[in-house]
Amino acid sequence: MADAAGKGLEGVVAAQTQISDVDGRQGRLFYAGYDIADLAAHASFEETTYLLHHLELPTAAQLSDTVATLRAESTLDPLLVELIASLAERTGPMTTLRTAVSAAAAVDPDGGSDEANLRRAYRLIARTPQIIATYQRLRTGGDAIEPRDDLGVAANFLYALTGKQPDPQVARDFDVVLVLYADHTLNASTFAGRVAAATLADMYAAATAAVATLQGPLHGGAIEGVREMLEEIDAPDRAPDWVRDHLAAKRKVMGFGHRVYKTWDPRATVLSEIAERLGRHFGDTRWFETSVRIQETVMEAKHLYPNVDFYTASVYSALGLPPDLYTPLFAAARMAGWTAHIREQYADNRLIRPDSEYVGPDPRPWTPLEDRG
Ligand code: COA
Repeated sequence: MADAAGKGLEGVVAAQTQISDVDGRQGRLFYAGYDIADLAAHASFEETTYLLHHLELPTAAQLSDTVATLRAESTLDPLLVELIASLAERTGPMTTLRTAVSAAAAVDPDGGSDEANLRRAYRLIARTPQIIATYQRLRTGGDAIEPRDDLGVAANFLYALTGKQPDPQVARDFDVVLVLYADHTLNASTFAGRVAAATLADMYAAATAAVATLQGPLHGGAIEGVREMLEEIDAPDRAPDWVRDHLAAKRKVMGFGHRVYKTWDPRATVLSEIAERLGRHFGDTRWFETSVRIQETVMEAKHLYPNVDFYTASVYSALGLPPDLYTPLFAAARMAGWTAHIREQYADNRLIRPDSEYVGPDPRPWTPLEDRG
């Protein structure tokens, strides 16, 4: 597979899934048949989590059960709090999250059945935002804040971060961000999780592989790259020249381009609305306005569309979140999709083991050490 067409496995179908589907030409994304635009308008992250795992929308009773389970599972074991405290003094949030997800296996009470893996999945989904909030509290000298019984996953994250109950519209906007990021077919991190699951490694091992793969700037790390760009540009009017110089130097503009979408990413459309609304809510639309100017210039110069990460940087900047939490928050949402894919892989498994095309030296005789030049 060394030919240009196969590089990066573009166009290769490596799994069947019922969980999500992308139409890159039309710019549409579906979770189990439901359009992401409908989910962003109507569904909570809890409802989306149920959908990804059960492939049906929950009834009212099933939804309240899911909400209750995610609340009950969100408290962190003391082992994890101690681990996070010690890592918070030494390293960044993505390394901490990857390590904590792996370490969570040590305090998991469950067995190996699919029912146990569903419980484990909900445990991981509920705890990931709390790992991130706890990390942020501890590294800034605060105490960990226990999640509240009366708040959903999104509001509880914002509460655990600040100790203040968030404004309901702000909490809903963040909830929608989680919905939008919850799954996206066989992206790099989901593929990594499925490859690990296909060896029958346990769910924590597979989820850890997924978190690790998300970190890079070509995947989840791009959101932070967008924020760095926004800071560097600093004012909307400076954006066109900055972008043109950047492209002339043959450098990529973070938050643009996509392997699958050849038009607007439908998530970016919703996120740009949220970025504008939150900018207005907090009285600072500079991030959003700079983003719009960047987007117009990239479109004009290169005909590239913004991807999901582009406006998310403005959303998180408006929310006042530290830039190094952006990628961990991507993981918090995607944990719903990762764990659904991992369960789907277990349910119909075959070891994933592709071929490589050898392009190294021809077979040759052994050269003794003393004869090597
Ligand atoms: N800025 C400038 N040019 C870009 C670009 C970007 N963000 N994304 C793609 N291009 C250009 C490439 O330079 C290439 O041009 P060329 O044919 O003249 O060499 C062409 O578009 C195809 O790009 P390529 O990198 O081969 O596409 P890919 O499918 O391998 O990569 C991404 C997809 C997402 C990795 C790529 O678009 C990228 O690096 N984007 C920036 C990082 C990012 O936002 N990642 C988050 C993804 S959700």
